[in-house]
Amino acid sequence: MHDLQELLDNNARWADAIKQRDPDFFAKLARQQTPEYLWIGCSDARVPANEIVGMLPGDLFVHRNVANVVLPTDLNCLSVIQYAVDVLKVRHILVTGHYGCGGVRAAMGDRQYGLIDGWLRSIRDLYYVNRHALAQLPNEEAQVDRMCELNVIQQVENVAHTTIVQNAWLRGQELSVHGCIYGIKDGRWKSLDTTISGAEQMPEQFRYRPIQR
Ligand code: CO
Repeated sequence: MHDLQELLDNNARWADAIKQRDPDFFAKLARQQTPEYLWIGCSDARVPANEIVGMLPGDLFVHRNVANVVLPTDLNCLSVIQYAVDVLKVRHILVTGHYGCGGVRAAMGDRQYGLIDGWLRSIRDLYYVNRHALAQLPNEEAQVDRMCELNVIQQVENVAHTTIVQNAWLRGQELSVHGCIYGIKDGRWKSLDTTISGAEQMPEQFRYRPIQR
């Protein structure tokens, strides 16, 4: 119990401070959430979604996992995307990686970490495909950082390739998938200019037609 006390005190101060600025803040939030953004980021404790982009509770719908991976078989991540797109109707999906990601680094090495090794396997595949270009970089840190960027670009494509996102576009819903990366060393969050806002930006092999009824 003692270990929790500091956090409980922090929370009381935080809630009071927000209520002082806007007495109706929590009452309004309790009635509904209307976030415009879905954040898909890494679980890393140094990459707190709301703080980085100056968003309040209610502004960001968030999914985090180790190394911000989006897989077509992950019921958890896909359910978050489906609810965000179909029900909340977010306008933007922000796939955010970060430099020095331990998950990406693990997927580039030969050390076993346990169950997590399987979770990171798709990043290892990505590393293998890009190994020659990465080997041109001056050192391991530069290679890991470039892989962190390549991973974000891949995950943006994985999000866009889902039928959830494609069906939203087919029915005329405005939705953009962005790739961003965060620097733990300098606190800066930047766009990788890899935004996909419609199926025409994807190779035709990944495009679906609507279900025929
Ligand atoms: Co990470």
